[in-house]
Amino acid sequence: MVVPSPPSRQTNLALLLLLAGAFVTGWLAFGVEGSPQSRTVSVVHGILGLGILLLAPWKTVIVRRGLRRRRRHTVAVALAVVVTVSLASGVVHATLGPLEVGGVRVLAVHVASAVVAALLVLLHVVRRAQRFRRTDMSRRTALRAIAVGGAAALAYGAAESGTSVAGLPGQHRRATGSYEVGSGVPSTMPVTQWFTDDVARIDLDTYALRVSRPGEPTSAFSHRELLAMSDTTQVAVLDCTGGWWAEQTWRGVRLDTLLGTADRGSVAVRSVTGYTRRFPPEDTSVLLLATQVGGDLLSRGHGAPVRLIAPGRRGFWWVKWVDHVSLEPQPWWAQPPFPLQ
Ligand code: HEM
Ligand code: HEM
Repeated sequence: MVVPSPPSRQTNLALLLLLAGAFVTGWLAFGVEGSPQSRTVSVVHGILGLGILLLAPWKTVIVRRGLRRRRRHTVAVALAVVVTVSLASGVVHATLGPLEVGGVRVLAVHVASAVVAALLVLLHVVRRAQRFRRTDMSRRTALRAIAVGGAAALAYGAAESGTSVAGLPGQHRRATGSYEVGSGVPSTMPVTQWFTDDVARIDLDTYALRVSRPGEPTSAFSHRELLAMSDTTQVAVLDCTGGWWAEQTWRGVRLDTLLGTADRGSVAVRSVTGYTRRFPPEDTSVLLLATQVGGDLLSRGHGAPVRLIAPGRRGFWWVKWVDHVSLEPQPWWAQPPFPLQ
């Protein structure tokens, strides 16, 4: 069966769908934790991304024609650059490991260039609009879409097998795409936080954890008191959206011991830096406020004196330098899916 090559308009529209799909599944990959779901999202994400690469020969024809026209090309050329950087850094992370370029992780380059690409593609599409036509809903378009999707899936399969056969680090990555770094040896675990946050310095002598419930006076616990109450040990995997994961043995106080139980509202866990995440109230029995890891006190970079352990959730939920936990009336989902501050 020969599938005729697509006209320019359909190539551009396909690129738009693939870019949008890759962008959405990229953020989903950051949001989900749990093997089967994470694997599915990562695979779909990879296939959509490689689909963009496969359309490059057809897009090159469009680009050559476009560049010959007398008009400003700045946005289009900048888009080509950031999409290339995003594709290259995604593939490098998935095959060669959590590398750094000039102190910046390749995965961070991947996400940052994807965000810039998302903004530029909007401008590009406004300037170079392509209309969707009713005739696009044809058998021929469906065949083309299947051909592109199938070829991208084959390319993804080939990249995965090639990575294994060549013995590249990528074969050992977790379902989320993260690499194991420093399990059982907390001091070798990377120090990373959400890009808006910074390592906090806390004076242990004046530190107090405030615990509040509506209509009740706020209680406060010193570091010494929290250490004395740290009676729960938990082995949990911290899977950071920076592209690494580590399994450690954490020790601390269960949140329900401090806060009691509740069946409505949400539990807000706040850092001295202002960084906050909200959790469903029923989670208090699985959330731990850790004072120790691997038998030692937490280090400053890893959240001393107290950090949250949120098993089954990605690293940005594991609030560090916690100084306030409170039961509040808002539902847990009344927050941006990813931290904005
Ligand atoms: C312009 C949009 C994007 C494109 C075209 C794109 C493309 C890609 C490609 C081609 C890969 C390599 C897949 C493989 O070979 O296994 C990849 C991996 C990855 N991308 Fe993206 N991506 C985009 C946006 C994002 C965003 C916004 C995020 C996160 C917020 C993200 C997170 C990831 C992660 C975690 C991996 C590693 C997955 C794995 O190792 O299996 N991507 N991406
Ligand atoms: C991977 C994403 C994309 C890249 C890297 C890209 C890049 C480019 C470049 C470099 C040009 C030539 C320079 C210029 O016209 O100023 C161009 C032209 C063009 N692009 Fe894109 N583009 C992408 C996606 C899209 C999308 C999603 C649309 C619309 C839905 C689109 C529509 C067009 C049109 C209509 C032209 C002009 C062709 C002509 O004048 O003959 N492009 N693109």
